[in-house]
Amino acid sequence: MKNKDLISIADLSRPEIEEIFQVTKELKDLHIKGVEEKCLSGKILGLIFEKSSMRTRVSLEVAIVQLGGYAIYQTQTEINLGKREAIKDVAKVLSRYLNGIAIRTFGHDTVQELAKYATIPIINALTDLYHPCQALTDVYTILEKFKTLENIKIVFIGDGNNVAKSLAQTCIKLDIDFHIASPKGYEFDADFISELKHMANGKNLIHLYRNPEEAAENANVIYTDTWTSMGQEAEAEIRRQVFKNYQVNAALLKKCADNVKVMHCLPAHRGEEITDEVIDGKCSVVYDQAENRLHVEKAILKLLLVR
Ligand code: CP
Ligand code: NVA
Repeated sequence: MKNKDLISIADLSRPEIEEIFQVTKELKDLHIKGVEEKCLSGKILGLIFEKSSMRTRVSLEVAIVQLGGYAIYQTQTEINLGKREAIKDVAKVLSRYLNGIAIRTFGHDTVQELAKYATIPIINALTDLYHPCQALTDVYTILEKFKTLENIKIVFIGDGNNVAKSLAQTCIKLDIDFHIASPKGYEFDADFISELKHMANGKNLIHLYRNPEEAAENANVIYTDTWTSMGQEAEAEIRRQVFKNYQVNAALLKKCADNVKVMHCLPAHRGEEITDEVIDGKCSVVYDQAENRLHVEKAILKLLLVR
């Protein structure tokens, strides 16, 4: 994986995802023992963020520093990507200074263009389309909790957004069934479903529902995300109406398997897509999931940036 980009889960093979999980476990075990492998000594990671972030920014900065490197964070105020300067020029210049870039943007094409012209690894830190670092963490967390990925029913309740898309792709790449319940107009689009089916090589791994209770039947994992993603704030009121029956609450959990784990990428809108009772309850693994962002991103950085 040396010098590869991570723009979409579609860029990864199954063995590469398994390697990320293996290295994550090794680095997490070392971290728990109080040891940090300084495999990125002297490496500098650029962070370019057009949107807000807490987990992604902090976990990536901590990851590179714990592995011996350094991070430089820039927002649109400094770079003004594509406006102050062509993306192509930013890519070419930053490739001369940095060893890798993690970038969070609105348009997915911005990240694709940066990657096209950069000669260093580019990591998607969330776009409107995908959130691959999150999805790798999510499936790693499921593996950690259940000790297996076999016969685990994973159900996403809500918007067919960036988080749901990357999670679906990760499941399909690993031959895992993926279930999603979304309201009309907010489900995966037809092109994305075709892409998932192609990725599944003829296997019937993708299961679409309208009714959240039907989807949640015997679920081992219930995953949800905000009803209104960054950049959609003007639609918040409409979305609150459309998604009101797609809340992860105690009644929905009654449909699930006894060992159900509740996941959320965070930030959560408590009282909207998830209730306080559920996110703070005994089935919730959301903070373990957030912690694992650090360990998974360390593995990604180690695999892409070490030469
Ligand atoms: N889950 C996640 O990416 O959180 P941030 O937006 O805080 O980075
Ligand atoms: N779907 C959310 C995820 C935030 C981590 C968003 O794009 O805002």
